[in-house]
Amino acid sequence: MLHGSGLARYFWRPPLERNPVTTATLLVLTVFLVAVFTSSSWTDTSRLSIENLTNKTIIISEMPKIPIRKIEIPLNCTSNKNQTQTCPTNYPKTFQTEDLEPSSNPVCPDYFRWIHEDLRPWKTSGITRDMVETAKRKATFRLVIIRGKAYVKKYRKAIQTRDVFTIWGILQLLRKYPGRLLDLEIMFDTEDRPVIRSGDYQGPKSTGPPPLFRYCGDEKTLDIVFPDWSFWGWAEINIKPWDSILKDIKHGNNQTKWIDREPYAYWKGNPFVAKKRQDLLKCNVSDQQDWNARLFIQDWILEGQQGFKQSNIADQCTFRYKIYIEGYAWSVSEKYILACDSVTFVVQPEFYDFFMRGLQPVEHYWPIRDDDKCRSLMFAVHWGNDHKKKAQEIGKAASSFMQEQLKMDYIYDYMYHLLNEYAKLLKFEPRIPEGAMELCSEVMACNAEGLEGRKKKFMMESLVKGPSIISPCTLPPPYEPQALAAFVRRKINSIFQVNEWEKGYWKSLNKQ
Ligand SMILES: *[C@@H]1O[C@H](CO)[C@@H](O)[C@H](O)[C@H]1NC(C)=O
Ligand SMILES: *[C@@H]1O[C@H](CO)[C@@H](O)[C@H](O)[C@H]1NC(C)=O
Ligand SMILES: *[C@@H]1O[C@H](CO)[C@@H](O)[C@H](O)[C@H]1NC(C)=O
Ligand SMILES: *[C@@H]1O[C@H](CO)[C@@H](O)[C@H](O)[C@H]1NC(C)=O
Ligand SMILES: *[C@@H]1O[C@H](CO)[C@@H](O)[C@H](O)[C@H]1NC(C)=O
Ligand SMILES: *[C@@H]1O[C@H](CO)[C@@H](O)[C@H](O)[C@H]1NC(C)=O
Repeated sequence: MLHGSGLARYFWRPPLERNPVTTATLLVLTVFLVAVFTSSSWTDTSRLSIENLTNKTIIISEMPKIPIRKIEIPLNCTSNKNQTQTCPTNYPKTFQTEDLEPSSNPVCPDYFRWIHEDLRPWKTSGITRDMVETAKRKATFRLVIIRGKAYVKKYRKAIQTRDVFTIWGILQLLRKYPGRLLDLEIMFDTEDRPVIRSGDYQGPKSTGPPPLFRYCGDEKTLDIVFPDWSFWGWAEINIKPWDSILKDIKHGNNQTKWIDREPYAYWKGNPFVAKKRQDLLKCNVSDQQDWNARLFIQDWILEGQQGFKQSNIADQCTFRYKIYIEGYAWSVSEKYILACDSVTFVVQPEFYDFFMRGLQPVEHYWPIRDDDKCRSLMFAVHWGNDHKKKAQEIGKAASSFMQEQLKMDYIYDYMYHLLNEYAKLLKFEPRIPEGAMELCSEVMACNAEGLEGRKKKFMMESLVKGPSIISPCTLPPPYEPQALAAFVRRKINSIFQVNEWEKGYWKSLNKQ
């Protein structure tokens, strides 16, 4: 069925406003600069300004001659295991970057625009302490950043090491951009499903919704989406940090040409977390049927006992088509599937993570109906084998997106902009909560134990080596309302189009 994926989300919200101040300021500035450099009468009336500008110009043109040295700052672990590990006091508080004007840096990928949409509920009201405290009911932990230092107060146990690696990721962000993050307090829920229902915060009398960070959202909720823990590794099931995986998959993609891959739709996962996954298994090939699907159950316990030999993600790019289907909520498997340059078959999802909203059906993936999976898969494989060039392009578009727009540098930039835009909305002064501890990479990693050493191994593998000498990319402005509507319409139309093709295919088969 064709549900307006994502549409409902825009309609309840107040109309988008463009920030007139920024635009106006930019315009005035431009006009000013043009005037300064072109009009000689300016020289006579305002000598000082010209000199200042001229000096600045000189500085800019001379900058490249003094290259900024990149430095690496290893963890400072106490050698004496009996002493408690402390946080270093000498990590740089700020760091000079090569770019003089950070705002002239390349613009971030388009999916960063959703940061504005996710924070829109607080755009006019701001975020009060009350709102944040209300979010505590659902939070796994509170994270506070004050003058570049991180403090964490834990409220409940997280699933596996989700909290550990999420916090680790934020600490790496602080290592990458020292002195660049505004003071803030966030509440973070590490459970799967979004919980802040927008229906509960409608109407003129309603209080602002509590801002709660998590890994995914859906149309009916207002939770703020943040990159999931597995970007820094999923130690329990031996999934390495994203940086390493991207390299492995790039290599894996190069091992077998698309055309030489098995011409079927492949899926391997845990079917017991969701009814729709069990439903999917019914499409598996058997003596009686062949829907072009090859489906397998991932037994993580068995895999663990066998040293995860069968679960190397990079070795799974051997089919032309790979199925993505949600579990209890969105699934972290999504990014690994999209990174193979096989065509990703996305079974109509209910949830979104922070980057998925930037992808388009038929351009980056092929949409699969949720209510008629087997027939939809059968047609999709048939279509791909019939349109090999186009199918390869779709696979390539997704893998390039993952390699380029979702590389680790952009994950940090996304976190940077999301957290800073959030911090700008705070109406109160963040403070260190009672009983919170200061956390830094040293405290987390130096004595990390467990999971056969994988916890420490993944931390060291994903450690940010030192301050970045390049500023974050420039946050693009919010979507214009028309552009956003057009983007969503395009999505709906593509899915509709595929449905029509599919109907036509079955009709023609039945006629024969
Ligand atoms: C130019 O520099 C002078 C001296 O440093 C300063 O007083 C003045 O405000 C500057 N003017 C502008 C337009 O920046
Ligand atoms: C600009 O640079 C020149 C030479 O370096 C210096 O004499 C002058 O004071 C500078 N002007 C300003 C406004 O800083
Ligand atoms: C490491 O930390 C200790 C104090 O905990 C400090 O004395 C020492 O200078 C630090 N070493 C480096 C290389 O920063
Ligand atoms: C650490 O403590 C243990 C027992 O308290 C002691 O036997 C050992 O010598 C200590 N090690 C160091 C390096 O201080
Ligand atoms: C792997 O990469 C090399 C060099 O870039 C290229 O020549 C080769 O065709 C690639 N192999 C496959 C299977 O894509
Ligand atoms: C699906 O079919 C294949 C091939 O017959 C088989 O190896 C596999 O175990 C089946 N998967 C499930 C979940 O039964």
